[in-house]
Amino acid sequence: MASGNAVVVFSVSGCCMCHVVKRLLLGLGVGPTVYELDQLGRGGREIQAVLSHLLSATSPSVSAAAVPAVFVGGQLLGGVEKVMSCHINGSLVPLLKQAGALWL
Ligand SMILES: *[C@@H]1O[C@H](CO)[C@@H](O)[C@H](O)[C@H]1NC(C)=O
Repeated sequence: MASGNAVVVFSVSGCCMCHVVKRLLLGLGVGPTVYELDQLGRGGREIQAVLSHLLSATSPSVSAAAVPAVFVGGQLLGGVEKVMSCHINGSLVPLLKQAGALWL
């Protein structure tokens, strides 16, 4: 699922930080594939458990919230804090271009 598009966002409907991440990507001109895990039933809960595990490995200081989880080019980028810090230091756009999510 994570490699089905250049940018994939795992989200839960009504999750504020998921909304922030989606708006940021859309604002940059990226059309991410978004999976709303709460609408996927049992499989969605299993994916959340896996994401929570993966995210706690990438950023141990951050609480192990499973969403939003952003994948770029099939690789886990991280949660909202990681996406924001990459955006602020200018590394997000090159990453998106490299993944083929942005052409300009
Ligand atoms: C930007 O910040 C991210 C997240 O902290 C880090 O992984 C990345 O190496 C930084 N890139 C640059 C160019 O400083």
